[in-house]
Amino acid sequence: MDRAHGSPLVIDCDPGVDDAIALLMALAAPELDLRGLTTVAGNVSLPEVNRNAARVLDLAGAPDDLPLVSGLDGPIARTRRVRDEPVHGEGGLGGVHLPPSKRRFHDAHAVDWLAAQALAEPGTLTLAAIGPLSNVAMMVRRHPEAAAALREVVVMGGAAFVQGNTTPAAEFNFFADPEAARLVVESGPAVRIVGLDVTRAALFPPQAAERLASMSGAAGVAGRMLDDYGRRAQARSGLAGFPVHDALAVSAVSHPRLLGWEAGQATVECAGTITCGALVADLRSPGRPRNIRMACSVDAEGFAALLSERLSGYAR
Ligand code: BDR
Ligand code: CA
Repeated sequence: MDRAHGSPLVIDCDPGVDDAIALLMALAAPELDLRGLTTVAGNVSLPEVNRNAARVLDLAGAPDDLPLVSGLDGPIARTRRVRDEPVHGEGGLGGVHLPPSKRRFHDAHAVDWLAAQALAEPGTLTLAAIGPLSNVAMMVRRHPEAAAALREVVVMGGAAFVQGNTTPAAEFNFFADPEAARLVVESGPAVRIVGLDVTRAALFPPQAAERLASMSGAAGVAGRMLDDYGRRAQARSGLAGFPVHDALAVSAVSHPRLLGWEAGQATVECAGTITCGALVADLRSPGRPRNIRMACSVDAEGFAALLSERLSGYAR
């Protein structure tokens, strides 16, 4: 498929190993037409996120003029910062050190740039949000007409019917900026949620990461990141594989049939001292109001095969 005929996509991210893998997937997907990248503080601080994003674009051989736009350095309504460095390793990329990048950041702020992109092509642009939802929420608040012009927002976040990964109730992206998550889920445009409910059901086999790590070029680098990230994830979980959350969210855009979807009514808990950041989704009987579609099942083998195939394509 000609990339120009792929589905127009912008990714808001906080790389992060699984963000980096999601970017490599998006850039290798003929089904997608990646229009640019916005960054948000999350797994690591904003300067580190920006450094990692630029270096990963170089690794993928992305065009020099692909827009890269810096965004918010923390949550929209809190002074606290939550980082996920223990999960992503030193520097945020699984201990892998990529060469410095000469890429320049766009002059605009991510919030305004996202709005301009949405308004330029009403009803066509998908936004994949794979970090805390600070930028997206601020766009919804400041530019509601732009949010309404998006085709949809695909969110990696939340843990509705399984345990969280940052607290028992909350997943990292929602816990890092709960007010933003609530704003996007409740008042945003069409939202599809890819939460831990499915990312934990689509574990990537460590043998596949090792195979990638033995390859040349960017495939090998991606494999080494995954190997490091997977080892630490498996040490915590004791499971036979590990989730690659953000890559599954991008695959939900390129390959929506990998997932089973249910419509429902959702919100995010912001006040609870123990449950802050919890995604509360009501998928009960038809006839109730619905504001989201949530991924409830996944073709785990299909996802692992897609991830391996697309990353192997980076071997030189
Ligand atoms: C999410 O949090 C981060 O650790 C990952 O990059 C992913 O976006 C998973 O809970
Ligand atoms: Ca992320």
